Amino acid sequence: MLHSRNIKHADLDTIREAAGLIRAGNLAAFPTETVYGLGADARNDRAVAAIFAAKGRPQFNPLIVHVRNLAAAQRLAEFDALSLRLAQHFWPGPFTLVLPRRADCGLSLLVSAGLDTVALRVPAHPMAQALLLAADCPIAAPSANISGRVSPTRAEHVRAELGDRVAIVLDGGACAVGLESTVVRVSGGKALLLRPGSVTRYEIAAIAGDVEMVPDAPDALRSPGQLASHYAPALPLRLNATRAEPGEAGLAFADNIPVGAAKICNLSPAGDLTEAAANLFAMLRELDSGRFTGIAVASIPRHGLGEAINDRLLRGATR
Ligand code: TXA
Ligand code: MG
Repeated sequence: MLHSRNIKHADLDTIREAAGLIRAGNLAAFPTETVYGLGADARNDRAVAAIFAAKGRPQFNPLIVHVRNLAAAQRLAEFDALSLRLAQHFWPGPFTLVLPRRADCGLSLLVSAGLDTVALRVPAHPMAQALLLAADCPIAAPSANISGRVSPTRAEHVRAELGDRVAIVLDGGACAVGLESTVVRVSGGKALLLRPGSVTRYEIAAIAGDVEMVPDAPDALRSPGQLASHYAPALPLRLNATRAEPGEAGLAFADNIPVGAAKICNLSPAGDLTEAAANLFAMLRELDSGRFTGIAVASIPRHGLGEAINDRLLRGATR
């Protein structure tokens, strides 16, 4: 239950308060011209994991990272000529570009759900712009609804669903567009429409020439053709392992530590699933080296974020 003081008719002081909360690793909901976003510091694995926990997502879908302008976006991702043209034309606005992450981007791996790409958007809403300016960091924000529900277009919607899970809700009234941003990826000099949204394919075609539909982006992401760009460990994962085979590394959780592993990473010594989610992709990468024959993964509880963690590990194990 949200207390009405959590909703703030956002003046500049309130926006600064929200920015401070984000920088300190908390969640803040804020309006964009499309829908309200559930925002966190996109560089902070723990804060990004808290987004997934609050939304109750059973899987780690990659999130949109919001930045102030094109220059900020170029510090995070690589732009080819067409991506640059699209960004110049549609930003700021209800338009999201999926781009290769820069090695030095400093973004959470969880924000990309282990992909080597990141979805970037420059929102036009003045309150979103003011928040990005005050926070001075990239802000990861999915739509501020519980997984499976419709996207919120008013602060009250956010309050009703997520009120007690978010430190502050900036109230900017009703969203002007009310439909999520269009998500586009450029590949081989062509624009691929990953999610239809408020910028139409005709508007995009006017800039890009041709637009290819990629229906059901979340499924396409999981399909074998897309897996090449999806980070999956090269080493085989062996789930629910209590002991390691000779040469195996071990991924532990709390006191579930595979016995005899050549090297151990513990997702959360304290048994905290949010911490485990925050560490998941970085630790898989750390263990995924030619020094080992495989990764023995300890059993991980299935409640809360455990469902998404187990889903991700299962996909790594059964590929
Ligand atoms: O209007 C919007 O886009 C709102 C506001 C808050 O910005 N945000 C939003 O985020 O709708 P979300 O998380 O609900 O949707 C993000 C979409 C998903 O369809 C996801 O699959 C896609 O963007 N996406 C994000 N990162 C991606 C990536 N690296 N590759 C492919 N698709 C990606
Ligand atoms: Mg959504």
